[in-house]
Amino acid sequence: MDSTEPSLAGSPPDSDPARLWRTILDLRHGRPGSGSAKPPTAGDIRAGIGSGDGESLLLCDLYLPLCAAAPRGRYAVAHLGQSLDGRIATLCGASQWVTGPEDILHNHRMRALSDAVLVGAGTVRHDDPKLTVRLCEGRNPVRVVVDTNRRLDGSQGVFHDGAAPTLLLCAHDLARPGERVGTAEVVGLPRCGAGLDPAGILALLADRGLGFVFIEGGGVTVSRFLQAGCLDRLQVTVAPLILGSGRPSFTLPEIETIDGGLRPRSRHFVLGADILFDCDLRG
Ligand SMILES: NC(=O)c1ccc[n+]([C@@H]2O[C@H](COP(=O)([O-])OP(=O)(O)OC[C@H]3O[C@@H](n4cnc5c(N)ncnc54)[C@H](OP(=O)(O)O)[C@@H]3O)[C@@H](O)[C@H]2O)c1
Repeated sequence: MDSTEPSLAGSPPDSDPARLWRTILDLRHGRPGSGSAKPPTAGDIRAGIGSGDGESLLLCDLYLPLCAAAPRGRYAVAHLGQSLDGRIATLCGASQWVTGPEDILHNHRMRALSDAVLVGAGTVRHDDPKLTVRLCEGRNPVRVVVDTNRRLDGSQGVFHDGAAPTLLLCAHDLARPGERVGTAEVVGLPRCGAGLDPAGILALLADRGLGFVFIEGGGVTVSRFLQAGCLDRLQVTVAPLILGSGRPSFTLPEIETIDGGLRPRSRHFVLGADILFDCDLRG
């Protein structure tokens, strides 16, 4: 951690997990009225918990680097929870739950740190997820659904519950000016191959002040962002589960030799019975 990293005016580092999480949120989003007191940096916060307990160390080691990186501009993190054999759901789309409660909590924490949470149409069709922050303290991010061809019928809760601002991104030829689906704003983007350009999606969100984007699935969506080189970080939680068939985590162009694969610098964290691999794709 260096002196240019984000800093937080106010209270000293605290190793109580709930207060520590609040400190991390403040560091990420800022705390109004924090005054001119010399703020602790992310490094101060980490040093302040010392050897700490397991939960405090996890909070610092997993999330503080994200706070340090995100304010520099656009930042895109994708997450998938997969079985040992690389499946995120059964073939008919059932995915609850591949990973355990600790990984679900991790998803909620990532939402709370993010400006926007983005999912593909397949995930909304199968899961109708709320995409809100419920298992930890934090504000709801803007919700973004990518549905290039308007395959969703608009009945899903995410378009009607009003829990957070919501965008429906589709091909520009399928969006009418000022159109809404429920409470969601419909935004058209140029077509790019089979879908929408991931870089164009991130640029549109950044123009709206949504720089930190959490891409929460499914596999097709994460693969498109990965293939386009649009991810800064990729988090894959692996559960000790074998499905033997099902929807794959990643679908990328075929390669012939092992060295053609991606082998990013990664850290790993134990989340209950699962292992989270946190990969730095810019390292
Ligand atoms: N275990 C997990 O971590 C996890 C997480 C999320 C979801 N899931 C499960 O995964 C399944 C859904 O995943 P999935 O891979 O089948 O589908 P998905 O990624 O949720 O959605 C795929 C669709 O979204 C649209 N899309 C995504 N990115 C796009 C882009 N850059 N440009 C244009 N369109 C884009 C495409 O629609 P068009 O084909 O119309 O272009 C695409 O077919 C569900 O069963 C869900 O329960 C699991």
